Amino acid sequence: MSDDINWIEIDEERTDVEERHVPVITSPDVMTAGESYEVKVTVGISPHVMETDHYIEWIELWLADRKIGRFDLGPSEKMAEAVFSVMPEKDIIEATEYEVCNIHGVNVCAEDLKSAFTHLRAVVSCNVHGLWGSSKKVEVKE
Ligand SMILES: [Fe+2]
Repeated sequence: MSDDINWIEIDEERTDVEERHVPVITSPDVMTAGESYEVKVTVGISPHVMETDHYIEWIELWLADRKIGRFDLGPSEKMAEAVFSVMPEKDIIEATEYEVCNIHGVNVCAEDLKSAFTHLRAVVSCNVHGLWGSSKKVEVKE
């Protein structure tokens, strides 16, 4: 991912410009591997404008290090939002186990771990204000 992204913590205090660009991710907090979920990304807690001179160009969604997709938008769109279909795969749990267990020694705690915490990450591009990102913690279960 690009270094030019302005990452915003959704729970922290925000400036006006952050308020209009922070991607708001709406998803279940817990997902089962192999099942499909709708994840909605809306740009701005105060909705971003979609005007000829100023609009959101695209919205991208990632789960862990995997790109789910990108929606291209334009000034003719009413709202800066996109709905993605996300199906977490089981190997996300295994990949995360490996990470977690690096602390204690590889595979020490892998055997009984049936779920893992990871992140949905949304990145959006404004034609005037550049790239903005936020993340949401989700649990993926077996
Ligand atoms: Fe903007």
